[in-house]
Amino acid sequence: MTKTMNVAMIGGGFMGKAHAMAYASMPMFFWPAPAIPHRKVVVDVDQAMAEEARARFGFDEASTDWKAVVNRDDIDVVDICTPNNIHAEIAIEAARAGKHIICEKPLSRTVEEAVEMAKAVAEAGVTNMVAYNYRRTPAVALAKKFIDEGRIGKILNFRGTYLQDWSADPDGPLSWRFQKKIAGSGAIGDIGTHVVDMAHYLVGPVAEVNAITRTYVPTRPVQSGGVDKLGASDKSADGPRGDVDVDDEFTSLLKFENGAIGSLEATRNGWGRNNFITLEIHGTKGSIHFNYERRDELQVYFADDPGDARGFRTIYTGPAHPYGEGLWPIPALGIGYSETKIIECRDFFAAIASGEPASPSFADGLLIERVADALIRSGETGAWTAV
Ligand code: NAI
Repeated sequence: MTKTMNVAMIGGGFMGKAHAMAYASMPMFFWPAPAIPHRKVVVDVDQAMAEEARARFGFDEASTDWKAVVNRDDIDVVDICTPNNIHAEIAIEAARAGKHIICEKPLSRTVEEAVEMAKAVAEAGVTNMVAYNYRRTPAVALAKKFIDEGRIGKILNFRGTYLQDWSADPDGPLSWRFQKKIAGSGAIGDIGTHVVDMAHYLVGPVAEVNAITRTYVPTRPVQSGGVDKLGASDKSADGPRGDVDVDDEFTSLLKFENGAIGSLEATRNGWGRNNFITLEIHGTKGSIHFNYERRDELQVYFADDPGDARGFRTIYTGPAHPYGEGLWPIPALGIGYSETKIIECRDFFAAIASGEPASPSFADGLLIERVADALIRSGETGAWTAV
């Protein structure tokens, strides 16, 4: 019989909603499910948020005390959906309590925190995963399959972008995402790391970076507290303003350990772009193009096609492709953000059930933190910086 595992989810905001939906629907998509996640306790520092999350997201109980909850005997899995400043403390406590842990990205604010987190889960021997969900888009997993099969040859160049515009308004509130002490960094950690994760997944480790970073909006209206509303809502342009001490945007050149080169840029100030994640990879035998705003599609070009048939072709992901066995039965019915979180949930519980390492693990998350740190340092000095 499929085992039921009790989940304690810490943080009931945007990601709390996405993860709760995945717990509810994972077994509906993937059956037999590796485990049935049971929504046992939701914790939020804000009592009203915790109670609302319990009622809305289908948890048995609400709490404001994460430390007490992660130490409970009836909890199997701790899911960290809080802002970045508290990831390390919760993860280390949960590892010591012997819980399996899924932690939202970025793993931490700093390399030092990530080192401690990776050490704690290794010592405890618990399953650990960082929630970089975009690699779970079936089209991205299909790109990985083609690369592993050698269909585009040896990879020469990776170009990645992640463009959003929700922070372009200078009167958008000073949420936790603009404060280094909570977020660690700006566009680098918040969205750039997603693309670093996909670069590591598809190409391999980044060895060196040369970045330009910019903060365009130096102060923002102070936010009264609560969840980050990601932009212009809740703005009070006439009220007191506080300092932004993270990057709004960066552009970087990359050198990979395997000799490939590339570029990476991310911004939250790029008007007109909402969740514009693009990957363009070319190798010695072909090319791959992906755009998350058209996430059912993978564009591929194989140089060994007959000369008169060469050209980019569009593949709509479906049952023949990665994760197709559990998703919708006809290609192009539509992959959404929720599906990426449902697949992530499946892979996390499958790792617990099999005892195999989850991916990306905290050790992988630490490598990404090292790249993020190199991007920050290179942005300050203007120099090529080793990861
Ligand atoms: P949010 O601001 O919507 O919600 C955070 C929640 O955590 C709030 O309800 C807040 O009250 C609660 N919280 C804060 N401190 C707490 C504490 N000490 N104990 C318990 N609860 C606490 O934030 P959001 O957007 O859900 O982000 C959470 C995490 O998820 C961040 O690390 C973020 O980088 C990541 N994230 C990942 C995304 C992805 O695509 N994988 C997308 C958005 C966020």
